[in-house]
Amino acid sequence: VHPEIFQSPITEKEELLPGFFYLTIESPVLAKRSVPGQFVMVQVTNAKDPLLRRPFSLCSAADGKVGILFQVKGRGTAIMSGWEPGESINIMGPLGNGFGVHQSCPAAYLVAGGIGIAPLLFLSTFLVSADSGIAVKIFMGGRSAGEVSLLSRFDLSACDVFFATDDGSKGFHGLVTDLFDDYVTTDHGFLRGNSIIAGCGPLPMLQTLSRIASREESACQLSLEAHMACGVGACLGCVTATKQENGFSYKRTCVEGPVFSGSDIDWDHMQLPVCRSAALR
Ligand SMILES: Cc1cc2nc3c(=O)[nH]c(=O)nc-3n(C[C@H](O)[C@H](O)[C@H](O)COP(=O)(O)OP(=O)(O)OC[C@H]3O[C@@H](n4cnc5c(N)ncnc54)[C@H](O)[C@@H]3O)c2cc1C
Ligand code: FES
Repeated sequence: VHPEIFQSPITEKEELLPGFFYLTIESPVLAKRSVPGQFVMVQVTNAKDPLLRRPFSLCSAADGKVGILFQVKGRGTAIMSGWEPGESINIMGPLGNGFGVHQSCPAAYLVAGGIGIAPLLFLSTFLVSADSGIAVKIFMGGRSAGEVSLLSRFDLSACDVFFATDDGSKGFHGLVTDLFDDYVTTDHGFLRGNSIIAGCGPLPMLQTLSRIASREESACQLSLEAHMACGVGACLGCVTATKQENGFSYKRTCVEGPVFSGSDIDWDHMQLPVCRSAALR
């Protein structure tokens, strides 16, 4: 499906925590075409500055509406935090490849670091509503109980949810990957093989998740973030290093990703590319 540009009204804006917003946007065609793991490029202003669209994962797509969960980081997201229901915004999508879902898999383990939960919420809703019998388990990590309380906005009653916080104020005291590792290595009935392991969050977290999955001889799908300028494969500003037979090659995170198989990523070369789009932002 080719991405399109939509002029779509915001129907709801919620500030879930200071600096964390959920926007509901009416966009029936976009909602119908989107699958979990895909993203949109949002134009933050009609003026020329900031120039570039900002990428956001789709957190939901149903009933003619899409949802975006975002954290204020810099100028673009600060502008977005000022938008109100009724305003019409310019979004391009759906973009990227999305998560692969095999209906025959018995369980899905979704591991998130902070705002990385956004695409995994869409995936969990999809898996639960497909009535596939897949057991969905969400591992949510954050700095504190406050940050992981983001999840209370969403109906996750059909999933098992486990929390990890850096300060120990909710759930496991430590990294979400340590929590997941504990889960896998102690007797919780972890199902290897063709279960889904999906992750989104900071790069070191994803690298650790990839190591755990490979140790357990399980595939994992990682949704990567990269600075993006065009979002459609033209600028090569968003590349991810992937393993090849005789070395490595770069793939465009916006087209061949943002979801990559953990075993395909060449972690040693991930920091190398100079981000061209960063200079334009
Ligand atoms: C495929 C994809 C999906 C994403 N989904 C979400 C989402 O669902 N929710 C969400 O809150 N954010 C998401 N992001 C990150 C989001 O795009 C950035 O936070 C946003 O572009 C920052 O814009 P800004 O103008 O506010 O910040 P800027 O002023 O441009 O930058 C502020 C800080 O954020 C860092 N930053 C900017 N862009 C990115 C980026 N793409 N990845 C990592 N760090 C960045 C900069 O290095 C800088 O430190 C996603 C990014 C990608 C590539
Ligand atoms: S953002 Fe331009 S090629 Fe990916």
